[in-house]
Amino acid sequence: MHNLRPYSINLIVGIFLMIEGILMLTEYLELKNSNHRRHHNKLFIFLFTHAKEAGQPLARTEIRNLLVIGIDTVFVAASAKRAGYNVYAVDYFDDIDLQHACAAYKSIKKHKNTESRLEVKTNFDPRALLKVAKTLSKKHRIDAVLLSSGLDDYTKILCKLNEMVPILGNPPDIIRSIRERKKFFNALEKLGVPHPETAVVENLFEAKEVAARMGYPVVVKPSKGFGGVGVRLASNPLELKKGFQIAKIDGDVVVQKLIRGIHASISILAGKRSIQVLSINEQLLGLPSVYQKEPFGYCGNIVPLQVTNPIFEKCKLIAEKIALHFGLKGSNGIDIVISKDGTPYVIEVNPRFQGSLGCIEKVLELNLVNAHVKACLYDELPARKPPPKFCTRLVLYAPNRVIAPDLTTLHGIWNIPPSHSIIEKGEPICSVLIVGESRGTSLHKAESLAKIIYSKLQSA
Ligand SMILES: Nc1ncnc2c1ncn2[C@@H]1O[C@H](COP(=O)(O)OP(=O)(O)O)[C@@H](O)[C@H]1O
Ligand SMILES: [Mg+2]
Repeated sequence: MHNLRPYSINLIVGIFLMIEGILMLTEYLELKNSNHRRHHNKLFIFLFTHAKEAGQPLARTEIRNLLVIGIDTVFVAASAKRAGYNVYAVDYFDDIDLQHACAAYKSIKKHKNTESRLEVKTNFDPRALLKVAKTLSKKHRIDAVLLSSGLDDYTKILCKLNEMVPILGNPPDIIRSIRERKKFFNALEKLGVPHPETAVVENLFEAKEVAARMGYPVVVKPSKGFGGVGVRLASNPLELKKGFQIAKIDGDVVVQKLIRGIHASISILAGKRSIQVLSINEQLLGLPSVYQKEPFGYCGNIVPLQVTNPIFEKCKLIAEKIALHFGLKGSNGIDIVISKDGTPYVIEVNPRFQGSLGCIEKVLELNLVNAHVKACLYDELPARKPPPKFCTRLVLYAPNRVIAPDLTTLHGIWNIPPSHSIIEKGEPICSVLIVGESRGTSLHKAESLAKIIYSKLQSA
């Protein structure tokens, strides 16, 4: 009995120590586990970073710094800045308003008072854009690229760009599938989407054969193009020969049946399985009032183009078929010509931000870069609201070699060149962007402002 007490005390102490041991072991295991989790997280971040580097999809939270690239990036860059991003840009023009929108930017050629702007029409080099984008991305942390016009037909450049910094929007393979004319129009045929009869030819002999088969008039254009440069109407073999020589700039030539009607475009936002039509836009082409010498050359837009409900529904169906078939993402434009009988014929798809962006933002009171990011990463599309007002963008071209006046004091001017810079005949001077209650008032106000600007020009 006497020895029992110390024994029971020992037992109690033993049990106590055992419990403490179990508790310590549990704590140790938990700690080990949490370390493992931390390590796992590190691995996830590592894998994620590498996936990103390899051009994989991005997470929305990652994107703060955007690089806008294209021939003219002002509208996209300004929209991205208003959406709260740090903006970088690479383009052809050294516009003053681009400087204001960007943390840093690079233009292919800087303005100099004695030297003219580079002639984009004849000297466009997509490799130059890639080169300056590389320089910029080495200096600054850039999370994603937004595409403006110019690079659509250069898949290799797009791939290199995408490897450097991921493109937010359509990846290069989707852009290629949209821009390979033969495959694209074959797909439209299968989808039952109206389009002009189209052929891609290598030489004049083939062009003549094709045009004779289609029946004149036809349209002849370069297979790698932008802004309607080098697009010509041919009503007979002689005009076809002239058109072919102009269009044979780089690669094959496209011969297409002429569609008579209203030149327009459909601006859409594409999510994973659905799209939203933002607006149908009137295209302004070849206007002598802004000294556009190219007959189909881009001179701006009037947004919206008011169409009847049946035409709108046809446009919507066409956009849905195209977007879902090709897997489009975010902001895309579809060029159409609406014939007299109300059929929208598809001319091409611009698989990136479009020239109508400034007008669309004004009339819909929407930030398009924000909407694009949401569509691409969150599959979120804005509700459709019919535009309550009109906006005209006019691109003004130089009537001859001119000296740019100071345009910073006027309202409604975009793509502002530094004052005293020299602009070659036929090159763009600036854009005007004016809102009005009707199509007529917005166009009229834009034309009046254009006249004021032309009156300020001096010959160089
Ligand atoms: N076959 C055609 N029939 C009628 N208009 C056309 C035709 N092809 C082009 N156009 C008009 O010319 C514009 C520019 O042509 P497009 O093929 O889009 O060239 P780019 O790639 O230079 O923009 C089109 O938006 C369209 O309005
Ligand atoms: Mg076009």
